[in-house]
Amino acid sequence: MNVVLGVGGGIAAYKAAELARLLMRQGLQVNTVLTHSAGEFITPLTFAALTGRKVITDLFANRSAEDILSSSVEHIQVAQENQVLVVAPATADLLAKFAHGLADDFLSTLYLAFTGPIVLAPAMNTNMWNHPATVANLSVLRARGHRIVGPDAGDLACGTVGPGRLADPEQIAAVVAAAALNKEDLSGEVVLISAGPTQEPLDPVRYITNRSSGKMGYALAEAANARGAQVILVSGPVHIPPPPGVEVVSVRTAHQMRDAIVGRMEEATIIIKSAAVADYYVSTVPASKIKKTAARVSLDLEPTPDILAELGSRKGDRLLIGFAAETSDLISESRRKMKAKKADMIVGNLVNVDGTGFESDLNEVTLVMATGETIPVARATKREIAHIIFDHALRLRLALHASQ
Ligand SMILES: Cc1cc2nc3c(=O)[nH]c(=O)nc-3n(C[C@H](O)[C@H](O)[C@H](O)COP(=O)(O)O)c2cc1C
Repeated sequence: MNVVLGVGGGIAAYKAAELARLLMRQGLQVNTVLTHSAGEFITPLTFAALTGRKVITDLFANRSAEDILSSSVEHIQVAQENQVLVVAPATADLLAKFAHGLADDFLSTLYLAFTGPIVLAPAMNTNMWNHPATVANLSVLRARGHRIVGPDAGDLACGTVGPGRLADPEQIAAVVAAAALNKEDLSGEVVLISAGPTQEPLDPVRYITNRSSGKMGYALAEAANARGAQVILVSGPVHIPPPPGVEVVSVRTAHQMRDAIVGRMEEATIIIKSAAVADYYVSTVPASKIKKTAARVSLDLEPTPDILAELGSRKGDRLLIGFAAETSDLISESRRKMKAKKADMIVGNLVNVDGTGFESDLNEVTLVMATGETIPVARATKREIAHIIFDHALRLRLALHASQ
């Protein structure tokens, strides 16, 4: 499978070299096109050495009349021989050219000739990103169905802080790989995902929470978006950036999470409850801080609403997937939970295994399905596991419909 990596003239051009490497690790052949400005930031040699392929930098380089007559025109040939076009960094200039159909160099000409999926990873100064011209160009490109990855917010090389940083190359590579496999299999689906922990206040300054980082739920949201779904992500407080292209509904407590999920469930075709929701809360939170004294205190805790059970009782023909974080008896507990909550699949994970689970980028799970199957998924990144969950979820839905 071939992909074109178009590199624009931005400070993040050096990160495109890492992206080339990650794409190759996904089994993709990478053909690089550098704009003239990109050549000011990084040399063609870097990409030629990394990809083992010639790097295109010029629309007219070495083009004699004989070349044109003896072989096909290069930008048309490149457009035909590659399955995905990814542009990273996509400069403000390239976004403008693409949006308006200008074709004055190899990359912009290739863009017009390219008919496959297009992934754009913009990176620029925050003011350039927020400029109405860029905003308008981006909405044109979005409307054409291109996948826009990033930008992330953070410290920029130009010294400002805000949106404009190139998305994580791993994230761009995941979107490109999904596009290359033509994984549009969630197109038309609305996937509602809950993620992260909840915080249950004890007083105005203290709360009960848990170690969930939200990484698994965010990876699911990213994967669903990459596979063409509309994604609604109901998130507890986390410290990771939301995946681009995903609608995020931020909540804090278990009750807020319940209201947000139940409020949006009618829109969803697939619901995945990966949040680690508190089981108990304090129903009467004092208005002022609890003072330290020598006396013992005890907390009077009440159970929080059982969101998965409520979703199970009202799910209709939606596919409902829950998570079970256990420290023992993973399969029997997952199976019990699936039946009790009327879920279609439980993703069970042992949270006391070193290097996986809460806070980690890795996970190791067992999928317990309503068809009776139990599928162990070996240790992998949460991104990879997210895709495996969707692969099995779609297969499960077909099996459940066939058995009705
Ligand atoms: C040091 C430097 C850094 C730049 N960084 C960016 C950037 O991150 N994003 C961007 O859109 N333009 C950036 N520019 C401006 C582009 O290089 C300029 O708009 C150029 O025409 C883009 O050409 P291209 O789109 O053909 O690659 C930068 C320019 C300089 C001199």
